Amino acid sequence: MGSVISIVNQKGGVGKTTTAQALARELAKMNKVLLIDFDGQATLTELMDLNNHFDNEFITNYMKTESIVKIFERDSIEPLDITAILQDENGKSIVPIKELHFIPSPGNIIVSSAESVSGGKDMLLNKYLQKIKDKYDFIIIDALPSVSTLFRNVLLASDALIVAIQTKTNAIAGANGFLQVLDDVLGDYDKTYKHLFILPTMYNKQRRDDKETLVEIMGSYMQALKTFSAIGKIPTTLLEEIPDRTVFSNAQSVRYFLQDYIEGFDTGKRDILLLLENIAKTITSKLEAGDK
Ligand SMILES: Nc1ncnc2c1ncn2[C@@H]1O[C@H](COP(=O)(O)OP(=O)(O)OP(=O)(O)O)[C@@H](O)[C@H]1O
Ligand SMILES: [Mg+2]
Repeated sequence: MGSVISIVNQKGGVGKTTTAQALARELAKMNKVLLIDFDGQATLTELMDLNNHFDNEFITNYMKTESIVKIFERDSIEPLDITAILQDENGKSIVPIKELHFIPSPGNIIVSSAESVSGGKDMLLNKYLQKIKDKYDFIIIDALPSVSTLFRNVLLASDALIVAIQTKTNAIAGANGFLQVLDDVLGDYDKTYKHLFILPTMYNKQRRDDKETLVEIMGSYMQALKTFSAIGKIPTTLLEEIPDRTVFSNAQSVRYFLQDYIEGFDTGKRDILLLLENIAKTITSKLEAGDK
């Protein structure tokens, strides 16, 4: 039974999509992974560059017939197997890959589709994932940066959350507001998580602002988590911070997964690979511990 892990924060541009893509790729080295773009902005779908890897007609048809909006019609969809994107004709890949599937975002239509459903609409993603969960080890969801029906679907479908927080002034105030929203949803639905991960992102150790924010995340923010009624009961881990480095956007601009880009073209940045390996290991072991 796969674990559903969503990367969340209502603040935009904090590295949610970048983290979702890199973490899914990391886990897919040895696991069966499904990555879902659940954001109307479709940033992740754009990064995946499907038109370049598949026959145009196939992708057009796929996007028409297999759109995630079907879950709001209480229907199922077939994820797209993108494992071969990372392999050559002989099935070889720069970085190992077991299995990676993807559900693209059809754009803003998912927002209107979610809002237009009548009746209990907050559990529809959960219901769909329950049906396909046993086919995967991990399901990673790139969430949208707003509180909405779509967002509640993400919160209620997840087994664990990664709250991405950029190490910049005001990030903590925003992150606290987010915790209140989360705590309310959890309380309303009597929902909990196996684990809550906090991930500082885009950290620049040369900047005083970043250093101060990181200290605040490590201290008062981690403590504040415990004061919320629903969140306070969830085991919580602060993950190692992701540094602010151009290699993240460089890989994205040529539409490569970070790991394959570094191993293929920029091996001087292997420290980042190690960091991602460690983060994935921590997440895996905490979730396994929670299963026992
Ligand atoms: N660690 C990093 N170092 C440098 N740049 C980064 C890093 N992580 C992400 N970025 C860049 O920051 C920008 C925003 O990142 P990303 O799209 O992942 O954020 P997001 O939280 O998903 O945004 P949104 O809320 O709009 O969905 C992108 O251009 C990305 O390339
Ligand atoms: Mg995003």
